[in-house]
Amino acid sequence: MNMDLYRRFDIPVDRVNTECIKWDNREALGNKDALPMWVADMDFRTADGIIDALASRVQHGIFGYAQDASLDKAACALWMKNRHNCEVKPEWLIYSPGVVDSIYHVLSAVCKPGSRVVIQPPVYGPFSAMCNKAKMQIVENPLIETENGFEIDFNGMEECFKAGADAFVFCSPHNPVGRIWKAEELQNVVELCNRYGVQMISDEIHCDFELRGQKHIPLIAIPGGENAVVLISATKTFNLAALRHSTIICPNEEIRNKVIASMSEAMTDVNLFGRLATRAAYQTGGEWLDALNEYLTDGRDILAEGINSIDGLRVHAPEGTYLMWVNAKALGMNSDQLNNFFVEKCAVIPVIGTAFGAQGEGFVRLNFATAHKNLEIALERIEKAVRAL
Ligand SMILES: Cc1ncc(COP(=O)(O)O)c(C=O)c1O
Repeated sequence: MNMDLYRRFDIPVDRVNTECIKWDNREALGNKDALPMWVADMDFRTADGIIDALASRVQHGIFGYAQDASLDKAACALWMKNRHNCEVKPEWLIYSPGVVDSIYHVLSAVCKPGSRVVIQPPVYGPFSAMCNKAKMQIVENPLIETENGFEIDFNGMEECFKAGADAFVFCSPHNPVGRIWKAEELQNVVELCNRYGVQMISDEIHCDFELRGQKHIPLIAIPGGENAVVLISATKTFNLAALRHSTIICPNEEIRNKVIASMSEAMTDVNLFGRLATRAAYQTGGEWLDALNEYLTDGRDILAEGINSIDGLRVHAPEGTYLMWVNAKALGMNSDQLNNFFVEKCAVIPVIGTAFGAQGEGFVRLNFATAHKNLEIALERIEKAVRAL
């Protein structure tokens, strides 16, 4: 691992007044001096190879209609092979402006209004929002919390499928609980979906955040998973969310043609800079990502240990993502009270747990993709505020 790259994550970058949703919205969210630990972007500069690729294109000075280069899809396929040991053919790839957009477009392409779609709350809020937008019927199969962390309720899943389900929107790795699902769990998902003819849509936007010792497996790399549609994006991995670019991996030609037809009707072209940044990321970003994963692992340890030492708060250390799902039920507050407590008394802005479904009552989600120094400040503030209760 490149220690020089690792140390760079320690240097705070001032994001204030950069039209940044995370830092420039603090006053509107209730405390202009709070540490923002809410929306899922990182307080880190992206990899140099990406900045150089964008800068050199900017220097050309002409930004007329562009055409895709075959290099782009080849770079993504090679990334999937090298990073995730997953065979992907360039022709399986479809671009979309964002993974949330892709969930909507894939659902619209493969289901009909009224189709039953299974999700596993607590889960990233736009899953249900996109199901609603596409006029799907949501079927919830909540995760189960055990002593060791969150697990999939496979009995519940089978019950949902038996009752009739058309699609399953999977979050792998899981936001907000931070699980990287194991091979056996993924195999069970695939077997159940195939047995009951349920279309798998796997949001794998967090796939590249593999905290130390962890390995993500794409659903299409699981035997029987070739009919899954997998959604990824370099914008999450490399902190490029505002560039609006993502990739749909769809090995099955029939499903792919449906998705392409539906998307071309909706006019979902991507932006030149998003595409160039994604290509540069996949071609040159590996070393930066290795250092990032080490830095995030150390940040995860600082935050999880600190939170678990505070009476009334508890976390299962996440295996992936840079998000921590904090159980604050013992504080005995409802959602509004808990949010106000964090924002006003702790001066830390979280995402309130109920944004991930009713199962999130009593939880907050904290984003630890920031300098370790900020995590220590956050812990001090939270500890002091909890003690004063
Ligand atoms: C699970 C998950 N899917 C999708 C997204 C958003 O993706 P995009 O910005 O590409 O729409 C996020 C962002 O946090 C996420 O956590």
